[in-house]
Amino acid sequence: MQTDIERVVITEQALASRVASLAGEIAGGFPDREDGITIVAVLSGSIIFLADLMRCLPMKMRMDVVSVSSYPGATTQSTEARLVADRDLQVSGRDVLIVDDILDTGKTLRLVQHEVARRGARSVRTAVLLRKPSKAPSDVSADFVGFDIEDRFVVGYGLDYNGHYRNLRYIGLLKPELYGAT
Ligand code: XMP
Repeated sequence: MQTDIERVVITEQALASRVASLAGEIAGGFPDREDGITIVAVLSGSIIFLADLMRCLPMKMRMDVVSVSSYPGATTQSTEARLVADRDLQVSGRDVLIVDDILDTGKTLRLVQHEVARRGARSVRTAVLLRKPSKAPSDVSADFVGFDIEDRFVVGYGLDYNGHYRNLRYIGLLKPELYGAT
């Protein structure tokens, strides 16, 4: 698996350190309410970021998940985002923090932000591990961002290509010859 990686973009150490500092920013950005916050995590790319981030957050929290389909199979091009699992999402009257792996074209976050607001959340904020500033549209923003990266398809630390590489401990670039081949 490691030999499929062309270059490490963000090391394991840099991820751990930034996730801890991001948690500090998030904790400082939410009022200290008795009912805490509700995290809505976007599956599946956010799972490792989510697990690390949650354990660094000091406040009371609940957690729920949604699943959005936008990168089907062996592609690096996003299609129209579609919510595929949101049945029991309970956010009415709550302070919500949406957690996603990456803000790329913004289709996913736009959809989830809209859905959470539609279900009556008291406030909606968003944390992403990565952002591609050259692509993110002006109408979709993240309140908390781990790293800005260049516009290349990345894998690792939860992010996949065709289902693989989520278990890499770092964020890396795949060798170009592997796109379409894994
Ligand atoms: P959008 O374009 O809707 O993308 O902002 C959000 C979702 O698309 C996936 N995505 C990526 N996955 N490497 C990945 O492994 C990437 O460079 C990448 N860009 C987008 C991801 O699941 C994200 O939640």
